[in-house]
Amino acid sequence: MSTTGVSAVAQSYQMFNPRAYLQNNYMPPRANFASEDFVVPWKLRCLADAFATGEVCGHTLIDIGTGPTIYQLLSACDFFEEIVATDYLEVNRDVIHSWVRGEDPCAFDWSPYIQHVCRIEGKGEPWKEKEQKLKKKLKKIFPIDVHQHNPLGSLLSQPADALVSSFCLEAVSPDRQSFDQALQNVTTLLKPGGHFLMIGALEESFYLAGEAKLQVVPVSERDVQEAFAKSGYCIRNFRSYTMPPSLKIGVDDVQGVFFIHAQKST
Ligand SMILES: C[S@@+](CC[C@H](N)C(=O)[O-])C[C@H]1O[C@@H](n2cnc3c(N)ncnc32)[C@H](O)[C@@H]1O
Repeated sequence: MSTTGVSAVAQSYQMFNPRAYLQNNYMPPRANFASEDFVVPWKLRCLADAFATGEVCGHTLIDIGTGPTIYQLLSACDFFEEIVATDYLEVNRDVIHSWVRGEDPCAFDWSPYIQHVCRIEGKGEPWKEKEQKLKKKLKKIFPIDVHQHNPLGSLLSQPADALVSSFCLEAVSPDRQSFDQALQNVTTLLKPGGHFLMIGALEESFYLAGEAKLQVVPVSERDVQEAFAKSGYCIRNFRSYTMPPSLKIGVDDVQGVFFIHAQKST
C-alpha cells in the first residue's frame, strides 16, 4: 500500500464540506423519488431488498464511512439491536450526532428518504416511527480509518454481525491495492459468516464536496467482485446501475453504481 497516497487522501479530506456533499448527491436531480431510474431510490431499493430476505440480522451492524448520511441505515434498523456509525472526519460524526439529537434546525431533511423507505418496505410503518427507531439504535458514532489493519482500534469489543458501507472504500483509496487492503482491514470487524452490503461508485476518478476535490480509485464491476473474493467472501448478489446523462451534473465523473451483498466465509 502506498502510504504517501494514503496521507495525500487524508489531507484532501480536511477540506470536505458535508453540506456541499449532501447538496450534490442527496438533493434533486439525484434524489428524485418518482422512479427507480433515479440513483437515490435505486440505492434504497437494493438495501430494502437485501434486508427483506431476513438473512441479514443480528445484534450489531457497523456502517463503514457513514459520512453525513443516514439513508443507508433506514432498512437496516428493523434487523439489529445496535447500529454503529463510523467516520474518519469529526465534522461528519458531528452531523450524525446532531441528527440523532435533533438539535440543529438547519439539519439536512431526511424525511423524504424515510417516507420513501417506509413506502417500498410496504409494512405500513409510520415514517416518524422509523426515524425514532433509527435514532435510538444509533448510539455509537466512532472514528475509523480503513487504512489501519484494525480500523476501529480498541473501540469494538467483538466482531459485528454485519457491515454496511456506501461510497467509502473507493473514495478514500489512492489505488486498487489500497482498496483491496482496506476491504481486508474492514473484514476483520465482521464475524465469520457475517454479511456485508456495499454500495459504491463505478469508474469514478473524482468527486467534489465544496472546496474539496477528492480523488477516487476507478473500479469496475469485476474489480469489486475480485476484491471481495480475495478477501474471503462468497458473493450472494451483485447489481449495477448506469448513471444516466441527466444525472451527470458536474459534481463527479461517476459512470455507475454497484451494489454487492457478500457473506464472509466461516
Ligand atoms: C464519499 S463519502 C461517503 C459518505 C456516505 N457513506 C454516503 O453514502 O454518501 C466518503 C466518506 O469516507 C470518509 N473517509 C475519509 N477517509 C477515510 C478513512 N481513511 N477511513 C474511513 N472513512 C474515511 C469521509 O469522511 C467520507 O465521509
